[in-house]
Amino acid sequence: MQFNLAVLPGDGVGPEVASEAIKVLQATGDRFGHNFNLHYGLIGGVAIDETGAALPEDTLKMCKSCDAVLLGAVGGPKWDDPRAKVHPEDGLLALRKGLGLFANLRPVKVFPMLIDATNLKPEIIKGVDFIFVRELTGGLYFGRPKRRWQTSRGRRAVDSMTYSEQEIERIVRVGFELARGRHKKLVSVDKANVLESSRLWRQVATEVAEKYPDVELEHMLVDACAMRLIQNPTHFDVLVTENTFGDILTDEASMLAGSMGMLPSASLAGVPREGVNIFGMYEPIHGSAPRRAGLNMANPIATILSMAMMLHYSFGLTKEAQTVEAAVEEVLQLGYRTYDIMSEGKIRVGTKEMGDLIAGKIGG
Ligand code: IPM
Ligand code: MG
Repeated sequence: MQFNLAVLPGDGVGPEVASEAIKVLQATGDRFGHNFNLHYGLIGGVAIDETGAALPEDTLKMCKSCDAVLLGAVGGPKWDDPRAKVHPEDGLLALRKGLGLFANLRPVKVFPMLIDATNLKPEIIKGVDFIFVRELTGGLYFGRPKRRWQTSRGRRAVDSMTYSEQEIERIVRVGFELARGRHKKLVSVDKANVLESSRLWRQVATEVAEKYPDVELEHMLVDACAMRLIQNPTHFDVLVTENTFGDILTDEASMLAGSMGMLPSASLAGVPREGVNIFGMYEPIHGSAPRRAGLNMANPIATILSMAMMLHYSFGLTKEAQTVEAAVEEVLQLGYRTYDIMSEGKIRVGTKEMGDLIAGKIGG
């Protein structure tokens, strides 16, 4: 089969991890007889430097003409000045919004051979395997009013957490659909004891639940959820939550897997269902790690696993996706580790070597 893929390497370690994912993708294409046409574009800090915009129009247009988007990372200290008119992160947010990517899937899985790479107790994290569904195009990130201004009594700023019932309904449905294909347990996370937007969220979630009688729905307050994730993470199967809560909780959850360098993500423009290909953007959940950039250090596994999610959700190539995941596990099983997941007695490798090893296992 033929697929068109937009590749946005971005900043920091983004280009390094993206090229390893492409290497593994090409190996997968060779093995299974697929052709992936790559279209490269600018986003983030490099785009600001070259064009003045964090998301150039050409990039958005190109992404829209492709079947999926693979993104490295955006941002870095060079573009961090709070007084700057444009930030690399604006490009990412504009892309999410511009492509209608409302559903952000962030699976958190503890690989048994990495259990000693985390600083949590093995008995707590053993068997952790859940998936976060984060709403990605609403809430505080996009709500209006949103501004900073000067008053006679000093500076003020406002952000708005706003949601419509349609926005809540479609994201909650993503949670239910995924739970249906897993252990049929959905936790909806909110702050309904305080926030109006959360009270609406809880109401809508309860209404949607009527259409999914086979799935058990539990409501959990976001502060309690932050605690439960550390105290008893195997409690969870699928979680669904709004944009900002999801941003914070998924960084927390990533620590269960040992390193952010292990966690992939998919941002989808529709509700995933068996047999339906959905447009999506795939990126590691880690950032641009500017201090590691150019050193052949970064762990490419998060990006490689994101690419595997792309094979599954956007291209319908589930067998191919499983082959990539199995290759990752095999290489970890053999003891190869990047710096972030290194432990005693293991073999330390760089970004490129890790990519080569995984690509080498695809050949069959
Ligand atoms: C994430 C990141 C982004 C976000 C930043 C880079 C804008 O933290 O994808 O979790 O806040 O959504
Ligand atoms: Mg984040």
